[in-house]
Amino acid sequence: MRVRVGIVGAGPAGLLLSHLLHLAGIESVVLERQSREYCEDRVRAGVIEQGARDVLIESGLGERLKREGLFHGGVALRFAGQSRRIDFVALTGGKGVTVYGQQEVVKDMIAARLAAGGHVEFDVPDVSVHGIETTQPKVRYTDNAGHAQELVCDFVAGCDGYHGICRPSIPPEVLTAYERQYHFGWLGILAQARPVSDELIYVNHPRGFALLSMRSMSIGRIYLQCKPDEDPEEWSDDRFWDELDRRLEGVDVVKPERGRSLRPKDVTQMRSWVSEPMQYGRLFLAGDATHIVPPTGAKGMNLAIADVSVLSRAIAAFYENGSTELLDRYSEICLRRVWKAERFSWWMTTMLHQFDDKSPFEQRLQLAELDYVTSSRAGSESLAENYVGLPFE
Ligand code: APR
Ligand code: PHB
Repeated sequence: MRVRVGIVGAGPAGLLLSHLLHLAGIESVVLERQSREYCEDRVRAGVIEQGARDVLIESGLGERLKREGLFHGGVALRFAGQSRRIDFVALTGGKGVTVYGQQEVVKDMIAARLAAGGHVEFDVPDVSVHGIETTQPKVRYTDNAGHAQELVCDFVAGCDGYHGICRPSIPPEVLTAYERQYHFGWLGILAQARPVSDELIYVNHPRGFALLSMRSMSIGRIYLQCKPDEDPEEWSDDRFWDELDRRLEGVDVVKPERGRSLRPKDVTQMRSWVSEPMQYGRLFLAGDATHIVPPTGAKGMNLAIADVSVLSRAIAAFYENGSTELLDRYSEICLRRVWKAERFSWWMTTMLHQFDDKSPFEQRLQLAELDYVTSSRAGSESLAENYVGLPFE
């Protein structure tokens, strides 16, 4: 079968790319290894930057987001027994973020693609890509009826996450990876519990980091810094809430509501990683397939959205006037923004977590940094500007 763009992966990157291309009159096929239910049910982060929100709304994907998303005009940083607010709206000229779960974004994207007659195939376990150095790259797979299929494409988009098959299809000598591992993870709970505040609270505590987030005003999403190999099974709800209480001690003691878990607790691994370049021949990588951030800055999905907004424009320009100028600059344009988000996510992670190898001197520096960031206009302006999201190019 002939199709202009073959897309591997139905996460936010692949689905949004397919949707944006459709709006530009360019048809694509999306192939996903997992089931639709799995994709729609996977709990991931839930903070959408101002620019990413604009992309979703302008492309017609924002109806439910506008209705159900929670606009947040700031966050609190809690350290040394006190809480300090960063006022995004005041510091960025009216910008903020929207709290709306990634799986809700994915549901909206799948619904829009299917309503428009888009070609999205789930449960496709054996996708492979071929001939990416040629002008007719191919994607092979077995369809749900068990028939071998071949898509003959102009472009292939690798939106298949860190464990996908697209990046490994590029000769390894072409790629350079930059990586930092963190020796901790996040133990997460999704609970039927009213949030203590209507904004997120990031906590630096000697017992470890904590984050109080939410999915609605009745559902809390809360994380505790834990060992990378922590066994969630060892954490009863009571143990989780007791530990959270300990990390919230201070002058204005916060007592979160102890709701029941809505799902098994999960452990998120923390990693900073970039693989460059993001393109080889006619294969273009986007989202987690080519960069990962630790979740402290809430940037993962936002970066995926920014990548495909550039890629869809580059592909559209190619079909409009044959120009490869934007396609040739895709990697360079995206990586400029990616690296700034990597820096911000690394910085937030470093400032807020406990590190086993930090000396008492470095621990005092961490608290001084938090004090500076939350008390100086220049310091808080920089955090706010990055958190609401740097401009889309
Ligand atoms: N064939 C087909 N699909 C695949 C394959 C494969 N071989 N390998 C992986 N996939 C699918 C995964 O099942 C997943 O649904 O690719 C999709 C990748 O989606 P995401 O992991 O959501 O990545 P992305 O779209 O880049 O979005 C980035 O997701 O992981 C979070 O924190 C991250 O929020 C960020 C966002
Ligand atoms: C979440 O709500 O899941 C969330 C919020 C903020 C983060 C990370 C995750 O920094």
